[in-house]
Amino acid sequence: MSALVDIRDMCKVYNPGENEVRALDHVNLTINENEFVAIIGQSGSGKSTLMNMLGCLDIPTSGSYFLHDQDVSHLSDDELSDIRNKEIGFIFQGFNLIQNLTAIENVELPLIYRGISKKERTKMSETALQKVGLENRKTHKPSEMSGGQQQRVAIARAIAQAPPVVLADEPTGNLDTASSKEIMQILKGLHAEGRTIILITHDNDIAAQAERVIKIMDGSIVHDSAGKNE
Ligand SMILES: Nc1ncnc2c1ncn2[C@@H]1O[C@H](COP(=O)(O)OP(=O)(O)OP(=O)(O)O)[C@@H](O)[C@H]1O
Ligand SMILES: [Mg+2]
Repeated sequence: MSALVDIRDMCKVYNPGENEVRALDHVNLTINENEFVAIIGQSGSGKSTLMNMLGCLDIPTSGSYFLHDQDVSHLSDDELSDIRNKEIGFIFQGFNLIQNLTAIENVELPLIYRGISKKERTKMSETALQKVGLENRKTHKPSEMSGGQQQRVAIARAIAQAPPVVLADEPTGNLDTASSKEIMQILKGLHAEGRTIILITHDNDIAAQAERVIKIMDGSIVHDSAGKNE
């Protein structure tokens, strides 16, 4: 079986020239379908930069990235956005919900961009909200929900269209312990359903709940519990 994610010799250099920052420094990484991977590292180690690459939000300075056997390292913005819509659900630390939309409207928004009919959208959004235990908060706005509930709405939004890959950047970073636990349970459930989960965190306890832990330091992978990539 070929890998879901296959990154070879990837570098990302910000501000090339005198003030250059080598945020990713010759990274090699393969992730198979249905893995649950945590990427851990200190502030500034390159985690978000790697997430931007994994999520096709940015392209590398050099090296290659094959996602589902497609070379995505040289695509245009439009092509990248198509791949993101098809393949990836994003969860961010700051939830990134739209404040004047209700929970269900937030979940529906990306489905509108995908051209899915109103009826189908409602069904998909309700199912996703149910999955995160928020069917009774459908018409609440973000300001009317706790941080943990807002993050669950963001997860529902990320999974409504059943993307094969869920990418989460510090999804529990703004949450208390109880809410963090709930979010981890939901991610574990998605993994059990067959999704690939890639979780970025600086919290060792959170990372320890993943199947595989990859440590990044100064833009390089310095440890991989699966024993790959080194
Ligand atoms: N747009 C940018 N322009 C210039 N340098 C950048 C840019 N984005 C990130 N960097 C630098 O690249 C390095 C890696 O940053 P990155 O955001 O990937 O770190 P991180 O591991 O996600 O940190 P944190 O845990 O604080 O979120 C840092 O030294 C950062 O200052
Ligand atoms: Mg970051």
